[in-house]
Amino acid sequence: MTKSTDEAIISEGLSKYYGQVRAVDDVSFAVKRGEIFGFLGLNGAGKSTTIKVLSTLVPPTRGSATVVGYDIAKDGFEIRKRIGVVQQQESYDRNLTVTASLRLYASLWNVDNDEASMRINFLVEKFGLKDSLNRKIRWLSFGLRRRLQVAREFLHDAELLILDEPTVGMDVLARHMFLEFCREQAAKGKTIFYTTHIVSEAEYICDRIALIHHGKIIALDSPEELKKKYTDMKGVSVILRKNSDVQAFFMALDAVSKNLQKKEIVNGSNEIRIVSQDPFRLVSDLSELLQSQRFEVESISVTGPSLEEVIVRLLGDSQIKGEI
Ligand SMILES: Nc1ncnc2c1ncn2[C@@H]1O[C@H](COP(=O)(O)OP(=O)(O)OP(=O)(O)O)[C@@H](O)[C@H]1O
Ligand SMILES: [Mg+2]
Repeated sequence: MTKSTDEAIISEGLSKYYGQVRAVDDVSFAVKRGEIFGFLGLNGAGKSTTIKVLSTLVPPTRGSATVVGYDIAKDGFEIRKRIGVVQQQESYDRNLTVTASLRLYASLWNVDNDEASMRINFLVEKFGLKDSLNRKIRWLSFGLRRRLQVAREFLHDAELLILDEPTVGMDVLARHMFLEFCREQAAKGKTIFYTTHIVSEAEYICDRIALIHHGKIIALDSPEELKKKYTDMKGVSVILRKNSDVQAFFMALDAVSKNLQKKEIVNGSNEIRIVSQDPFRLVSDLSELLQSQRFEVESISVTGPSLEEVIVRLLGDSQIKGEI
């Protein structure tokens, strides 16, 4: 029987040391049922290690946690029955076909045949695996193998899905479909613990995001609240008319101010984002520049910081604190 608590995960002072390395260091947080909880951080921050401890693959050095209401120290079997885990690394029987692999997984999870057929049909549709059903896993492209590895964890109707960079290697369409799928699953009451390096992806699907740095959680809130905390990081977005000389404008910005906190061309487009301590002053300086040099402008607007900018700032602040 499933234990009912409002939280799918409760972590209290969880730590995992590998010799001198404090991979996870006194981490406490709770994930509500039905929530999509993002777990973000730089390479080596401790994300995968936290996942291994929560999914009872490795024991913690210190601290405790319950997962779907069960204690990771005592109830590993009960937990593993009720969760789906996508590890960061690949794991397959490469000689099986996609169908055989999904069938095998369903039988390992004791899903009866008819139910398994229904779920497999549903998942191959959602993950775009229909054309690959009879192909051996060893001949699939990397992205297709990743899709299969993620899809199979949804076969046994787990309460909690722990996904370690699930979209790595997925193409833009597969990723889009997968993010929608996660939202549907959460709406049906499933809980998703999600790591990714793609901030926009986390911002799109996560109800809350924890930022882990050197094994410690340094921020935890909804994407909206995280952005609100940094109102001093307002930026100015300038969109030039099509076919404008974006590079020339970018260079000319230095004439406006030498103290810009940041300036970037957004994804090679004709949008330039500038962060300044005084964005309103910047807008008036920009207007002068635009008039004097005759750049053609679509729009100028003052906007809040992007989540990515906030995360870079949080990591920077935490680094400074750590150095003192
Ligand atoms: N089995 C192990 N033995 C020794 N050190 C380990 C082991 N596993 C992880 N580490 C160390 O623990 C730290 C955290 O690693 P972890 O894999 O959890 O990071 P991560 O946040 O998942 O990074 P990435 O974004 O690169 O996947 C790193 O310093 C890593 O080298
Ligand atoms: Mg990792």
